[in-house]
Amino acid sequence: YNRQRLLVVANRLPVSAVRRGEDSWSLEISAGGLVSALLGVKEFEARWIGWAGVNVPDEVGQKALSKALAEKRCIPVFLDEEIVHQYYNGYCNNILWPLFHYLGLPQEDRLATTRSFQSQFAAYKKANQMFADVVNEHYEEGDVVWCHDYHLMFLPKCLKEYNSKMKVGWFLHTPFPSSEIHRTLPSRSELLRSVLAADLVGFHTYDYARHFVSACTRILGLEGTPEGVEDQGRLTRVAAFPIGIDSERFIRALEVPEVIQHMKELKERFAGRKVMLGVDRLDMIKGIPQKILAFEKFLEENANWRDKVVLLQIAVPTRTDVPEYQKLTSQVHEIVGRINGRFGTLTAVPIHHLDRSLDFYALCALYAVTDVALVTSLRDGMNLVSYEFVACQEAKKGVLILSEVMIPTLHLSAAQSLGAGAILVNPWNITEVASSIEQALNMPPEEREKRHRHNFHHVKTHTAQEWAETFVSELNDTVIEAQLRI
Ligand code: UDP
Ligand code: G6P
Repeated sequence: YNRQRLLVVANRLPVSAVRRGEDSWSLEISAGGLVSALLGVKEFEARWIGWAGVNVPDEVGQKALSKALAEKRCIPVFLDEEIVHQYYNGYCNNILWPLFHYLGLPQEDRLATTRSFQSQFAAYKKANQMFADVVNEHYEEGDVVWCHDYHLMFLPKCLKEYNSKMKVGWFLHTPFPSSEIHRTLPSRSELLRSVLAADLVGFHTYDYARHFVSACTRILGLEGTPEGVEDQGRLTRVAAFPIGIDSERFIRALEVPEVIQHMKELKERFAGRKVMLGVDRLDMIKGIPQKILAFEKFLEENANWRDKVVLLQIAVPTRTDVPEYQKLTSQVHEIVGRINGRFGTLTAVPIHHLDRSLDFYALCALYAVTDVALVTSLRDGMNLVSYEFVACQEAKKGVLILSEVMIPTLHLSAAQSLGAGAILVNPWNITEVASSIEQALNMPPEEREKRHRHNFHHVKTHTAQEWAETFVSELNDTVIEAQLRI
């Protein structure tokens, strides 16, 4: 039977290109939750459209790269340096990203940003139009076009202008903020209207969906219904689709000899010490400085643990051309250096901080040997690292310390998430995080087992496959219902 064709459009392709010669390229798996989640989607005849993360000014290079990417079912959108600077570094990662995560910019940056706003927004629209052109070129009747994330809020409108019959879905992988925050954005209305051109708009949580609908009612004056947003009889369906991971991929990896070997080495390396783990892109939203300060406080207050615990922090470099990210990097380095200087000995330091990414097998081994994982995001769309850790813990049954920000209504929703199995913390409260570390390290095995059972069940039953299938079938249904209504 014919599988449905799916065009996945995201700024970041699942592979990033590195140039090896005039017409030769090597491809590396890209980092980040969006790519991880979409790699788990297997039910469709999927093509990917997006940016390969490099500037390719020459035609020879573009041709060769397109060919290399085609083998991975990927189609490149070529963005020049100036566009990347204004659209990706500027509008996406210096304006939308902090705003959607409720993180303000320092005062002096805010003023500079206000000045460059118009030109960056123009570049954003231009980039979205370039994505639309590539989609339009590859579109075949009946295809589902699934647009992803805050980089491409303008895309649904561009696509519908090309072809009003195209089935268009848009999904946001970050939080959508309260309308009080969204209304401070100069381009607030234009962005909302272009997203509304999609047939189906999806968010990770019900809260983000509700924020979006109320932004449309309060800022655009449209009508919000339980189904979505209505504009002169046309409905844009809005709903929540919580994401998950391909848990089997992680569980299977733990049986691969290479992973077993990695685990053995790690266990020997850290024998006699409990392993605590953080895995994050080096991003402000992840609360890395706060996490490390909490670990320091724990060491301060628990002298008996000082030579019995180690914190491994994998800090994957990200968006390194954006000044805020550069500042964060030096800030984190400074804190880590200070704490290692303070509590280190001639033979050991309490924190191993790595500015690099790990390959999949090394990451799985690390998840599996960890005693306590620390996920302390200040805001996060839907953190996948916490899921991946749980998937790799069937043998160890370690403890997850999890920021409460992903659990919308603490007393109501915790049971349907990782909230009931994890130790939930307010990431801003360093005292609370420090005592959670103590609680986690001293937790009796029966309690760890019980908490792990809950989390593991949740991770196994909320998968990336199911997430994608639900979204796409809802999109197909929405389009059929809309046709019936005319
Ligand atoms: N990850 C990666 N390389 C690494 C470490 C982690 O690709 O060296 C992956 C990790 O497995 C996870 C993703 O990056 O799937 C991070 O996703 P998450 O949703 O936690 O956060 P995001 O980076 O999307 O904000
Ligand atoms: C988050 C965003 C993704 C993005 C990823 C990595 O998960 O929601 O859209 O791909 O971070 O960031 P980058 O800027 O490197 O694509």
